[in-house]
Amino acid sequence: MGKKAPARRWSFFFFGLLFLAPAHAGKQPPAAAVVSAHPAATRAGVEILQAGGNAFDAAVAVSAALAVVEPYSSGLGGGGFWLLHRASDGHEVMIDGREKAPLAAHRDMYLDARGEPLAGASIDGPLAAGIPGEPAALVHIAGRYGRLPLARSLAPAIRLAREGFRVDEHYRRMAAFRLDALRGSPAAAGLFLLNNEVPPQGYLVRQPDLARTLQALAREGRAGFYEGDIARQLVREVRRYGGIWTLEDLRQYEVKERRPVTGSYRGWRVVSAAPPSSGGVVLLEMLNMLALRDLRAMSKAGKVHYLAEVMRRAYADRARWLGDADFVGMPLKRLLSGAYARELVKGIDMKKATASSRLPSVRPEGHDTTHFSILDGEGNRVAATLSINYPFGSGFVAGNTGVLLNDEMDDFSIKPGVANVYGLVGAEANAIEPGKRMLSSMTPTFIENDDHVAILGTPGGSRIITMVLLGLLEVVDGKDVRTWVRRPRFHHQYLPDVIQLEPGALDEDLKAALMNMGHRLDEKSRPWGNMQAVHWNRRAGKVEAASDPRGGGSAMVLPQ
Ligand code: DON
Repeated sequence: MGKKAPARRWSFFFFGLLFLAPAHAGKQPPAAAVVSAHPAATRAGVEILQAGGNAFDAAVAVSAALAVVEPYSSGLGGGGFWLLHRASDGHEVMIDGREKAPLAAHRDMYLDARGEPLAGASIDGPLAAGIPGEPAALVHIAGRYGRLPLARSLAPAIRLAREGFRVDEHYRRMAAFRLDALRGSPAAAGLFLLNNEVPPQGYLVRQPDLARTLQALAREGRAGFYEGDIARQLVREVRRYGGIWTLEDLRQYEVKERRPVTGSYRGWRVVSAAPPSSGGVVLLEMLNMLALRDLRAMSKAGKVHYLAEVMRRAYADRARWLGDADFVGMPLKRLLSGAYARELVKGIDMKKATASSRLPSVRPEGHDTTHFSILDGEGNRVAATLSINYPFGSGFVAGNTGVLLNDEMDDFSIKPGVANVYGLVGAEANAIEPGKRMLSSMTPTFIENDDHVAILGTPGGSRIITMVLLGLLEVVDGKDVRTWVRRPRFHHQYLPDVIQLEPGALDEDLKAALMNMGHRLDEKSRPWGNMQAVHWNRRAGKVEAASDPRGGGSAMVLPQ
């Protein structure tokens, strides 16, 4: 959401975003790179690389720093997916730190006696919060993949929490948007508001409680968060304000290592998020359909039309089939097969929009969340997308823990056919069950061939997957990394049956041509997304990184 302060980003942009090595297409990159949605988090990652950490240590540092300086996006009270590539043996894994439904959750918990959705129940306050996964994921990544002690990688975040960060325009917009929810939680209002109002620009947000919670994690590992004093306080406060967590929920939370979804597109290898994210499956399904036609031979309008039809079909499958693999069987092999893509493409009329109501049935989400991408000097890579769902999550901070809780429960389908905050509808596969992970759209992704490696991802709710798709098409077209993150965006998510457009994304002739084909267009008043990308050009021996100009992030490249 929102525009950033351009001055901050561009100063970083020109500040060594490119490093050219003597032409050797080596196995090791000539530079490391860190790019994230906030300059302080990017610096935290760089500090850890310079202290001898690898990309995985840096990922722990960046995640924890974002938890402090972007409280509206992600945090210890939330979760995410960390896609890792280890250079020494090519090992690839997705660390699933997604939130889980509490054990006392049930499928109708957000419906009233007549079976109608209770307004705001899955969005505001602790009843909306899933059991957080980020603390366990950080401990796991540091312990299994990192080189430095967890305490070292968490140090920059602890410092930031103690010393504070300054409120900027984006913070103010997010806080204004979630003002009622924040006012509903005295601890949240005390931390993130000033006299119950949105603080002015430049106001210093200090989080000493969060610093102590991070220190407990640093000292005791997962027990520092999921057991003991902090766990007790989390459960007590959540229940006091109407939530249903128990100590058992926290004790049972476990990180999962998942095999990423992989596929290919025009000779490139694509590696992306596995369920419980829908990201990789939907992305690969779209790429499989795109590979069946020559996009370059199409007119401008034909290309947007074809892309929208491909998006529509893949999102319809998301709605119908996808959920947590630990709970539901999913026909993934079929969805990802070439034969299935050919079948789907047969239904696309190149002159006319298909009505979504004609496709087999329903689901979708997204407003704030964060992504970062890292490449270290050994070639290790991390693409991570982290979330507490809505801006400032549920708006609820639990007592003196400093932990702002997510409202990720809204990513479940709270009732078949009822849209969530991002207009997405869902079905049985994503119904609420105790201990189940809610379906996500987060799509941390690698794409590579012999000459290039790209690491990318973005926040943006339901639109995440199509943003990553459009970014990948630029990669494959040989465009530079700034174009990947900057290009105009459009989106179709099956329902609502419209092509959503960023302001000015398509010219008037193109819009007219699409409407003539039967498309309905919905031009939004604001741009969306905040993509963070790294490009290692192995052939040229060059590393570049770029942060989306729509956000306030920064990229840094470190010659090795
Ligand atoms: O997991 C998901 O798909 C959502 N909770 C992500 C929300 C999001 O990206 C909000 N961003 N702008």
